[in-house]
This record gives sequence, structure tokens and C-alpha cells, in this order.
Amino acid sequence: MNSLNTFFIRTYGCQMNELDSEIMASQLEQRGLVESENENDADLIIFNTCSIRDLAERKLFGKLGIISRKKKKKIIGIAGCTVMAKKEKILDKFENVNFIIGTNNLTDLNNVLDEIEEKNIRLSKTDTKYEKKLETYFAKRKNNIKASVSITRGCNNFCTYCVVPYTRGREYSRSFETIIDECNYLKDQGIKEIMLLGQNVDSYGTDNHKMNKYFHDLLYEIDKINGIERIRFMTSHPKDITTDLMYAIKDCKKVCNFVHFPLQAGSNRILKKMNRGYTLEEYLEKVNKLREIIPNVSIGTDIIVGFPTETDDEFMQTYKAFEQIDFDLAFIFEYSPRKNTAAYKLYKDDISIEVKDQRMKKLMNFYNCNIKDKLKKFIGTTQEVLVENLNKDKNFLKGRNKRYEKVIFKGNKSLIGTIQNVNIKETKHQTLIGEISFS
Ligand code: 5AD
Ligand code: SF4
Repeated sequence: MNSLNTFFIRTYGCQMNELDSEIMASQLEQRGLVESENENDADLIIFNTCSIRDLAERKLFGKLGIISRKKKKKIIGIAGCTVMAKKEKILDKFENVNFIIGTNNLTDLNNVLDEIEEKNIRLSKTDTKYEKKLETYFAKRKNNIKASVSITRGCNNFCTYCVVPYTRGREYSRSFETIIDECNYLKDQGIKEIMLLGQNVDSYGTDNHKMNKYFHDLLYEIDKINGIERIRFMTSHPKDITTDLMYAIKDCKKVCNFVHFPLQAGSNRILKKMNRGYTLEEYLEKVNKLREIIPNVSIGTDIIVGFPTETDDEFMQTYKAFEQIDFDLAFIFEYSPRKNTAAYKLYKDDISIEVKDQRMKKLMNFYNCNIKDKLKKFIGTTQEVLVENLNKDKNFLKGRNKRYEKVIFKGNKSLIGTIQNVNIKETKHQTLIGEISFS
């Protein structure tokens, strides 16, 4: 008996969650279900959740409240990080939720659905240990130009504010061979850009020295695959990035010169309280080295403002570092206490919302102005763009240069998936606008 015909997965949060949704979608298609365009038509709805900050969780619970009142007949499942953080409490709180499935049980999805359908019960599967079956699991890719490949799962760093080690478990590096196999498979499917994903890609292989393969080895190997045009990766941890890796980025023609390299804070006292494992001076030394070794490298960051006890002076140390480093991309967050984390247990969330807002605004203002000026410097240059899709307005194509700046230009959709030289003529917001170069 199979009463489910259609499914819809709503994904919240990071690229790791996007990939997990693609893994679930491929199993549902193997089961014979068809993906719906929107959640109202689907027999099965899965919410793949994020719990990195409180706002993400509140949005989900608001949505669940509405949906569980409206959609009485449908099967509703919750997956992802919130499930790991809240477990059975979700089933207690939302009576129309039929199952919850954790980040380490993704390939159990069809067994869970079988049981629910046969026995008419509610189920919870939330193992804390990495599921080895994911080693060879291929996902249903949403995009036919770019695909993510997970190289490590989980995290061992225990930054004191971060819930990831609790929601995704300890770090586990996938085998070198299965990663290369998956990249070859994706190349055969026509994929041009691979994004290697891990909470901390730089520590790939350090949980299993017997393998004797590290992140730079992976880059050199994937770079050899004919047909793959670009290789990206994230996230890099400032305490773990190696000189070998910097040279691999420089040497490998397809590896993009963009490094997401979260500073988080510019005060050494706060960095210590965050358990980041580096000082500002050590961070700056690595940035200098990145800029020395990798031509025209683009550097991205995450920053948290309003970490417990952060003084005005300490915030200004972050601000000055942010200004000095001159980041090419930045995500700025207000500290949000997360249950189970050391910061939640040890420190009071003592910085008011108003002060957090002010600090965030100050950084954002600088960032927005600075990025505008930085982008203007591209006018008159030619950028190599991998064309990803039509832009929203359809008259334009969109893509990115190797550094990760977004570029739009007029062109035929037959160019999607190719690399084009684009002469940059102007900028708008955070986008470069140009024309194809025919010379
Ligand atoms: N509060 C605010 N920001 C957080 N991040 C992680 N946990 C928290 C938290 N509790 C941010 C960090 C991380 C990014 C993915 O999310 O900056 O690098
Ligand atoms: Fe969270 Fe720190 Fe691990 Fe990143 S490195 S996932 S911020 S614990």
C-alpha cells in the first residue's frame, strides 16, 4: 500500500541542509513519489530545519503551528538540526507532526515512511552517530551546473556559542575514494562546479590519519577531473588552514580563489571566550599569507556581535579589524544563546538587543559602502564567468567570477553552463554588470 504520491521539502539554513534535502528527495523519488511545486499540493511535507540562531527556530515553530492546524490529512515530517536539538519535544508540541528524522538518519527515510503507513504510528529517529551509508549516497541535484559534495560531517571544535557539534555530532571525514567517485559521477551528469562542504574543511582527514589524505590532497585530485570547471569549498577554520592548502589553491587551475575564513571577533579576550583557538594577530598572519600566496584572493568572513560581556571597546576592536582586513564578503550576526552550548551554560546573554543592533548596523554600514567601492574597481576589467542561469529579469544571464562576485550580462540561455569572458561596464548593489567580450 502506498498512499503517498507527492512530496515537498522546505529547506532552512545552510548549504549542508540543502544537500541533506537533496539526499532525502532522491530517496522519495526511488519510492515513486513526485516532487510538488508547492507545499499545499503535496501528500508529504518535510521541513528540513536549522537551529543555528533563535530566529530560525522561531520561524519554523510559527510555520508548524499554522500548518498543523491547516493540513490535517497530510504526512508532516521534521528533519535537520532543530530535530537534534529538541528531539521528542517536537512530537509532543505539534500533534500533526508524524515523524522526526535526525541529521544522521537521512537514509532511514523510506523505512520510517513504511512504518508510519503500515502501523499508523508516529516515529522519531535521531541517532547521534554519523551514518556511514551516506558515504556512497548520491543526492537528487536541484541545480544542473553546480553541486555540493560533503567531505566531512559534524564538528569537533566546540566554539562556545555554536550548536552544530550537538546537532550534527562529532567530525567524520568521508573516504577519499567515495568523494572522488562522487565528483566523477557529477561530472558525467554535466555538473561544472563542485562545492566541497564541511563545517571545517581544513581538518579533512585529521580524524583518521591512517587514511593519510588531507584537504589539499583532495583539491589536487579533483582538479584532475576533466569536465569539472570549478572547485569551491567551505568553511575554512583560521586555526587549521595550512600552507599546503594555500599552495594547493594557488596551483590547482580549477580551484577558486575565494576563502570563507570566519574571524567571528577582533578582541582576543572574546575570541578566547568563544574558544576559537587563535588570536587576532595569528588570524592576521594567515590573511597576509593567503594574500601573499594566492593571486587576487577573495576573503569572506562571519562576525558575531554582542557575545556575552563584549564591551564597546572590544566591539571597536572587531570593527577596526574588519576595516583593516577589508573583507570581500561578510555575514554579520547578533549573538543568540543556544541551548546545550557552553556559552549558554556559562554566560548570561547580557548585551541588550539595542546594543547588538547598533553594533550590527555599524559594521553593516561600513561593509555596504566598502563593497560598493571595491566593486567599482572591477569596471573596465574582464571577468571569467561561469554562467549559472537566467537572471530574475530574464533578459540577462547570471553567473560568478572565480572570486565569487556575481556578474550579470545580456546573452542567450544556450550559454548556461559555459565560461564566458565578460567586460565589466557598471555595478549595481553587489552585482557587476557587463557585456560578453568577443575579442
Ligand atoms: N549566535 C549568533 N551567530 C552564530 N553563529 C553560529 N552560532 C551562532 C550563535 N549562537 C554564526 C557564526 C558561524 C555562522 C555559520 O553562524 O558566525 O560562523
Ligand atoms: Fe560551529 Fe565552530 Fe564548528 Fe563552525 S567550527 S560549526 S562555528 S563549532
